[in-house]
Amino acid sequence: MRILVIGSGGREHALVWKLGQSPQVDAILVAPGNGGTEGGKAKNVAVAADDIKGLVALAKSERIDLVVPGPELPLTLGITDAMHGENIPCFGPDAWAAQLEGSKAFAKDVMKRSGVPTAACAVFSDQAEAEAYVREKAGPLVVKADGLAAGKGVVVAKGIDEALTAVREIMGDKAFGKAGDRVLLEECLIGEEVSLLCLCDGTHAVPLPSAQDHKAALDGDRGPNTGGMGAYSPAPILPDERLEEMTDLTVRPVLRLMADSGHPFVGVLYAGLMMTEKGPRVLEYNVRFGDPECQPLLSRLEGDLAQIMLDCVKGGLQPSAVRCTRETALGIVLAAEGYPGTYKKGLPISGLEKANSLPGVTAFHSGTKLTGGKPVSNGGRVLCVTALGQDLAQAQKKAYEAMRLIDMPDSYYRHDIGEKGIRRLAAMRKKGK
Ligand code: AMP
Ligand code: GLY
Repeated sequence: MRILVIGSGGREHALVWKLGQSPQVDAILVAPGNGGTEGGKAKNVAVAADDIKGLVALAKSERIDLVVPGPELPLTLGITDAMHGENIPCFGPDAWAAQLEGSKAFAKDVMKRSGVPTAACAVFSDQAEAEAYVREKAGPLVVKADGLAAGKGVVVAKGIDEALTAVREIMGDKAFGKAGDRVLLEECLIGEEVSLLCLCDGTHAVPLPSAQDHKAALDGDRGPNTGGMGAYSPAPILPDERLEEMTDLTVRPVLRLMADSGHPFVGVLYAGLMMTEKGPRVLEYNVRFGDPECQPLLSRLEGDLAQIMLDCVKGGLQPSAVRCTRETALGIVLAAEGYPGTYKKGLPISGLEKANSLPGVTAFHSGTKLTGGKPVSNGGRVLCVTALGQDLAQAQKKAYEAMRLIDMPDSYYRHDIGEKGIRRLAAMRKKGK
């Protein structure tokens, strides 16, 4: 089988790594890929992830059997529709279904119609009306740009002034372009966040174990929001025993609505959940694997990912195909100093071989490239060093041990990835006594 993976992050390196382990896979092309996605069965090709025409031409000329888009952009731009037009199987939703991520107003409407619990919300396309609503509510509000804003279009506003500023930036100044044509003003929820990622074949959803991301740049969840500074799986707040119940509540109703609308959802449907005192609430849907959640999740997957994806595309996914080790996996992101703001590129990375030689450790590349055969940084998030361990504490210890073997100037990482889970496990043990 010949596979085309689209994207260039740590998620895509993990996809290439896992797909490459399948005996059915002969070759993997990665468009455009990074410094870690070259070698073995895999080869990078310089076609951008949003160049839909170029990607279709590449898939045709390279006789690709399965396309695996990593990020959301090609999906919302219609890569699945375009590939299907050429009879090329593609593991992802069509552009209509991808609006679940591409438009927060669309996602809210789907949640409402399918009875999925979520924060109360009002949608505005008129700035003056949005501002009036902020003044009327006068409490904490979450302001969201409707469209894709590279994870930056959400402001959790404590008071009126902060909310008004956010509305003006999004709608007035068009800080995120057309993504801000509409805003959502949402009830502010309180609780712990957890991610539920399901593999979907149009009719069936099979949950992967839970994962928890760390979105803030600095220890203790301080600092600006990032794409994710580390993740681990499972998250004690959502244990395996509750996965089915949570999938019934937050994913399967959406899958039914998508199918009934003539757009059966194929791919990964990712529900970002807030576990509140009143029960779970969906904060958002993503229509793809999370980055970095994908790195620990695929580290735990024991099944054949290529077969699983093919089964999804053909509409026959069996839950038994999705087997995961009971071990815990934890990944820490190494970022360039300055990220998520401005940062240097081209910084040399050393120690990767030593880190990768530790049992159960994989240093997945994110923003890297090879210069003269040597890895240098090429983005804000540079690596995701991921380790498997018998439990969360051990996975954490191993991942940090591996991270300390890696050297890159002007870089930083968080020192508390997994701490929230470790605290919860300790509290659960105390309660159980
Ligand atoms: P989203 O892109 O919708 O997941 O929002 C990004 C982040 O904003 C989430 O991961 C939460 O930390 C926070 N957030 C989003 N919606 C809410 C809400 N209704 N209440 C509290 N925090 C929220
Ligand atoms: N790590 C969050 C995301 O991929 O959306």
